[in-house]
Amino acid sequence: MQVPDIIIAIDGFSATGKSTLAKLIAETFSFLYLDSGALYRGVTLFAQENGYIDPDNTIHEAELKAALDAGLDLHFGLDGTYIGDRRIEKEIRTMEVSGQVSPIAAVPFVRAFVDGKLHEAGAKGRVVMDGRDIGTAVFPNAEVKIFVTARDEVRAQRRYDELKAKGENPDLQEVMKNLAERDYIDSHRETNPLRRAEDAYVMDNSEMTLHEEIVWTQGLLQGRFRILE
Ligand code: CDP
Repeated sequence: MQVPDIIIAIDGFSATGKSTLAKLIAETFSFLYLDSGALYRGVTLFAQENGYIDPDNTIHEAELKAALDAGLDLHFGLDGTYIGDRRIEKEIRTMEVSGQVSPIAAVPFVRAFVDGKLHEAGAKGRVVMDGRDIGTAVFPNAEVKIFVTARDEVRAQRRYDELKAKGENPDLQEVMKNLAERDYIDSHRETNPLRRAEDAYVMDNSEMTLHEEIVWTQGLLQGRFRILE
């Protein structure tokens, strides 16, 4: 199936399987996959390691801003997210980073910093990007927008299994609490809060297999672009 050079924006609540769907779309239709959350996680790791955020979530904004303005080399490499030549893919997926990423992502200058990186990385098009505000703010003109949802307990179990598979020792209640906290902060912040774009198609994947997700997406693209197989 030949899909035109479009931008596909995937948004939704935490751990709804946005990145799994985005990766699947990228593989199936030869798109570039960009994970916007990885950049917010990268800024969070950077802030934690340099003392720009305290354990009580106090953010030292002036210092963090100066460091970002000085040019933090946070970027997508071929095999994941990097700061300079250090691959940070493992570090940014921990519960420590998950615990502080939403307050960091609510800071307007952090959002502006990440938006700049996302526009740079997506400039060539034929991109599938996932996040919270891709269809509403980063690429409001994206040709296809998908808003992903799944039941709370399904999301928590999926994230728990993911962390476990990576060798962490997560607590299911703690994972659930983290997802609920992030969803609340992400949808209530002032700058580009998480919400469904009016022209986004909703996918509830609580009971869907990956195969069903890709069939659903193919149907959507076929309907939109009258693509002939
Ligand atoms: O994969 P998961 O659902 O855990 O989240 P993520 O996509 O890695 O994003 C981590 C956090 O980054 C979110 O909870 C948001 O606080 C923030 N984020 C955002 O504000 N805007 C985006 N476009 C993407 C992520």
